[in-house]
Amino acid sequence: MCGIVGYIGEEQAAPLLLQGLEKLEYRGYDSAGVAVYTGEKLEVAKAKGRLKILSDMLDEGKSLRGTVGIGHTRWATHGAPSDINSHPQVSDSGKFAVVHNGIIENYLTLKTFLMDRGVTFVSETDTEVVAQLLEYYYKKYHCDILEAMIRVIHKVEGSYALGVICQDSPDELYAVRKDSPLIVGLGQGESFIASDVPAILAKTREIYRLNDNEIVRLTRSGVTVFNTDRDEVHKEPVHIDWDVSAAEKGGYEHFMFKEIMEQPKAIRDTISPRIRDGKIVLDDITLTREQVESFRRIVIVACGSAYHVGVVAKYALEQLTRIPVEVDVASEFRYRHPIIDDKALVLIISQSGETADTLAAMREAKRLGARTLSIVNVVGSSIANESDDVLYTWAGPEIAVATTKAYSTQLAVVYLLALYLADLLDTISPEEYESYLDDLQKLPEQIEAVLQNREHIQYFASRNFNAKDIFFIGRNIDYALSLEGSLKLKEISYIHSEAYAAGELKHGTISLVEDGTLVVALASYLPLFDKTMSNVKEVKARGAYVLGLTVEGKTEIEKETDFVFYLPATNTMMQPSLMVVPLQLFAYYVAAMKGCDIDKPRNLAKSVTVE
Ligand code: F6R
Repeated sequence: MCGIVGYIGEEQAAPLLLQGLEKLEYRGYDSAGVAVYTGEKLEVAKAKGRLKILSDMLDEGKSLRGTVGIGHTRWATHGAPSDINSHPQVSDSGKFAVVHNGIIENYLTLKTFLMDRGVTFVSETDTEVVAQLLEYYYKKYHCDILEAMIRVIHKVEGSYALGVICQDSPDELYAVRKDSPLIVGLGQGESFIASDVPAILAKTREIYRLNDNEIVRLTRSGVTVFNTDRDEVHKEPVHIDWDVSAAEKGGYEHFMFKEIMEQPKAIRDTISPRIRDGKIVLDDITLTREQVESFRRIVIVACGSAYHVGVVAKYALEQLTRIPVEVDVASEFRYRHPIIDDKALVLIISQSGETADTLAAMREAKRLGARTLSIVNVVGSSIANESDDVLYTWAGPEIAVATTKAYSTQLAVVYLLALYLADLLDTISPEEYESYLDDLQKLPEQIEAVLQNREHIQYFASRNFNAKDIFFIGRNIDYALSLEGSLKLKEISYIHSEAYAAGELKHGTISLVEDGTLVVALASYLPLFDKTMSNVKEVKARGAYVLGLTVEGKTEIEKETDFVFYLPATNTMMQPSLMVVPLQLFAYYVAAMKGCDIDKPRNLAKSVTVE
């Protein structure tokens, strides 16, 4: 959520800033703005609504002269979406312009402090406090910008990625971050800041990832990073080797569809390098057998779809390792005084590695002495950096707000981990291990087969995209997956849906089922197939229209349901990896038929870096 871009170089800044912001649109936003030094002063242009409005206002940036500037897409937190509340926010005299991602938690105290000293505020944002405070210190201490920045970061509480320009130093751009992502792009005679790589990928592939409270000064001749004692910090550049097309649509109508189609490759990339000579090799983690034996339980914390991966992981990890597993939503875990100590392994799952609640939950677990292991997609992100061990999902950049390939690769890593730990603890026989590993390696090819059959789901979606309420039901691991099926549908198609453990429906929710209610019954967990069919009968008896999903050969489902989608069979633990694909496709096709903004659903953001 919110996007930052900054540029200093020889080219006209505004068009570059707008192009960069366009690449960050996927993160979700409600207004946009840029500030550029025009040769005499800072000029700011902002507009509520789509970036296109700002771009039209500025003739794609051409009407704004100047070669240094900052830009922002805002997702409102403090103050409604409006031109005034959009960033950049400017200090009283217009000297400082600031863009900000994150939340300044003590902004009210600071605002009062400044207002008592005669400063006038124009917006409702927490960000304006930063711009005003910079100017206040800059004037009060007659200091340079670096010093003013250091004073500001000592004063503010909360999370921030900040881009700053100042009229008095038109050949410099400053930035700093804490708990909110920010990278620095390194070019020839030019440099960039951005909240995410796609914004600058067209211009450079060499970047610095900033650590918390490292302040960076960008000039046309180079980049210098400082700590809060003004000491220079040596940074190693990181080379981004993504294919540019990985961050572009490549002929597909939507990123989400492209990412659904990329799942076989993403899973292959995630598992193949970790299987050598019939064994899982997790070079990336350093857990010993003794350490694993000392864990009394595993606690999984995550948000949204990543949490749903955790629910599947509970079944997989308990089944294979016999270690008890708890799964918790990160925003709950962090505030419930969790009972955690060094006998717990806390597993953190996150695509972005920057989700504020997940990061805070992980820090709480560490504070309490737990060992932390994260499953993360974005290399070098905060969660990856701060956890004791990290297992990366090699899904590549995920642009669509609704996750698909990240979810699938997270599941793949969960299976790798469960098998690896089971082998370490001797809770699995060599034959079972080999058979699971075989199944795991077949998944990409089996997903390809499911994708080939997508027209069947498209047809079903075309008959049902007007549904008002949809229920997803299943038992055991099918229930775990139904949570994701339901979320996928509601977030992009805006159709109300609920996921229910099939056996739980009759305890209340079945009262909502009436003539024509659509029920999606997941029945791939064969030990409980008959039980699920009994629940299907219950909803059919109340008029439901039922889509049944099961494995090839289970044709008896046809007697009970109205429409069937068959999936290739694998072991029950890995079945969600196959079954999730028709659920993603169903959500996608329904949303497309309803004309929804699939890649940028309303009110949602890709990376939720505020609480
Ligand atoms: C749903 C979705 C979200 C994320 C959640 C956690 O499609 O993408 O529910 O799963 O916001 O994000 P990460 O995985 O980045 O921590």
